[in-house]
Amino acid sequence: MAQTLDRLQQDHIQRLLAAYRTLMQQHGLDAIALYSGHALPHYGDDQYPNFKAAGHFVHWSPLFEAQHSWLVITPNAKPRLLLHAPTDFWHLTPTLPDEPWVGEFDVELVNEPATPALQGNVALIGDVDALQQGPVALPHGEANPPALVAALDELRMHKSAYEIACLREANRLAMAGHEAAQAAFAGAGAELDIQLAYLGASRQRESHVPYDNIVGLNQHAGVLHYQHYDLHPPAGRYSLLVDAGRRFRGYCSDITRTWAGPDAPTLFAELIKAVHELKDTLIARIAPDVDYVELQRAMHRQLGEILVRHDLYHGSASDCVASGVTRAFCPHGVGHSLGIQVHDIAGLKAPDATPAPPPEEHPALRLTRKLTPGMVVTIEPGLYFIPMLLDPLRDTGAPINWPLVEQLMPCGGIRIEDNVAVTDTGHDNLTL
Ligand code: GLY
Ligand code: MN
Ligand code: MN
Repeated sequence: MAQTLDRLQQDHIQRLLAAYRTLMQQHGLDAIALYSGHALPHYGDDQYPNFKAAGHFVHWSPLFEAQHSWLVITPNAKPRLLLHAPTDFWHLTPTLPDEPWVGEFDVELVNEPATPALQGNVALIGDVDALQQGPVALPHGEANPPALVAALDELRMHKSAYEIACLREANRLAMAGHEAAQAAFAGAGAELDIQLAYLGASRQRESHVPYDNIVGLNQHAGVLHYQHYDLHPPAGRYSLLVDAGRRFRGYCSDITRTWAGPDAPTLFAELIKAVHELKDTLIARIAPDVDYVELQRAMHRQLGEILVRHDLYHGSASDCVASGVTRAFCPHGVGHSLGIQVHDIAGLKAPDATPAPPPEEHPALRLTRKLTPGMVVTIEPGLYFIPMLLDPLRDTGAPINWPLVEQLMPCGGIRIEDNVAVTDTGHDNLTL
């Protein structure tokens, strides 16, 4: 695989170079300088939060931990990489990998943070606010011109073959973690045990995860972005929801699985199966020209059918949707764009950068586009029992089977999430 990936990466960089040069021409620029960014210490402390390099910088190079570094793109010269590589006896000095992509750049390793010497019309892209608080002066240039930033964001919406290969590998590595998490749950582990099993099997340290792993037992499965890891196993074992990914060369996977525990009602396992099938049905529809907002609506129609079929709603599926009941059972969107960022950029804009907000009734939807080849999206239907959302429906006369809902409350909820690339003729599920 390595040789193919190397070749794909070189194609990716050449494609990016051509696209940047076209944009420089359109925007009258002599250079685009991409700043990787840097972390600032916690207030009054000498410790730093985890750092992640800016997305546009990572688009060019897999150095997703590089701080105080620059990439300079010009119309004629080779791209220049100014990599901060301090030599000090506290840390291991960064070095460049022995990989062919490095040959696509003129590389300079610098001991102290430095800014590139730039001339003419220059666009500086990156966290200029952090730069102004940093150790070096802001270089010459206009910071983050909005029209150019929008165009660079748009370039990231469609993934090259190299990026799709990275996302596929990020999925493969994450799936090993999900299998270990399932085994740790079967072994009656606490949330922390499951988290550690996941990290170990997916071979990553916690500071490298693409987003904080969500590891929720029982009712915690119904907290959409549950943020803790209990140290002790709960008395009853109803459910486990794990939403966790892996980064590969800066590209993120974002996968969710839910399992029923020995104390869950049989219905819960049936509902998990139904949500898996719903995920597969939605993925089967993915193809060029499909409207992602329509997938959101399809998810709700099918959630209505699931609620009726499993006796949770004593009315018609269409009433269940129209009255907002399905939204109380699933308050988030059907998914989002995926790439260097887990919720990748430009999802709520049209290709010409005009705003494309979500429909009023689906405010949490993070992608409103028609699908086109090269896009990579998640599909993540959910079905939750969240008291905060369901309680307001109790006095409305909505024909919800409350005794059955009560039985399911200790299970928290279900989410099943895969990552899918849009191809020329249909789709490619990267999670399989
Ligand atoms: N892991 C966050 C999400 O699924 O969007
Ligand atoms: Mn997720
Ligand atoms: Mn997601």
